[in-house]
Amino acid sequence: MKRAIYPGSFDPVTLGHLDVIARASRLVDELVVGVLNNSAKNALFSAQERVNMLKELTSQFTNVKVDAFDGLLVDYAKRTNAAMIVRGLRAVTDFEYELQIAQTNHEIYADIETIFLTTRLEYAYLSSTIVKEVASYGGDISRFVPPQIVGQVYAKYGIEGFEK
Ligand code: PNS
Repeated sequence: MKRAIYPGSFDPVTLGHLDVIARASRLVDELVVGVLNNSAKNALFSAQERVNMLKELTSQFTNVKVDAFDGLLVDYAKRTNAAMIVRGLRAVTDFEYELQIAQTNHEIYADIETIFLTTRLEYAYLSSTIVKEVASYGGDISRFVPPQIVGQVYAKYGIEGFEK
């Protein structure tokens, strides 16, 4: 049983994240989307809200599970018997940070492998931070996030009228 974790903040989940989930789910027996529950991080959505969103958006994938974790990712990987960590790589600017984290994780837990999926060109610029920046000024985020969550993101900024 090949189990992989796709970890992240997903604050909020973007179309780029969902693309990685769809593609990674075809490579493994089970993909666990691990939502970082870090109270120190100033998140827009609570971990539970992010888990709920991701569960709804991935319900069509029979081998995808969504869960929250805190602490070290490698400890979570050990606990859940995951052999792989999946990360998306957008551009060379991601590379140094991702390489450092992957090497650190491998140093702490030699049995874990990190695999990278290159982001599709159409999502190469996209990040949760960009979504929040645009939404906070009332800009159009419908090309960045799935339609099911557009209203929830605007609602966090007090912009109403988008709830489904
Ligand atoms: O979506 P993000 O914010 O880029 O995801 C980062 C994440 C959650 C993968 C990373 O911050 C993480 O794994 N955090 C848990 C603590 C940890 O294990 N850090 C890596 C070793 S220093």
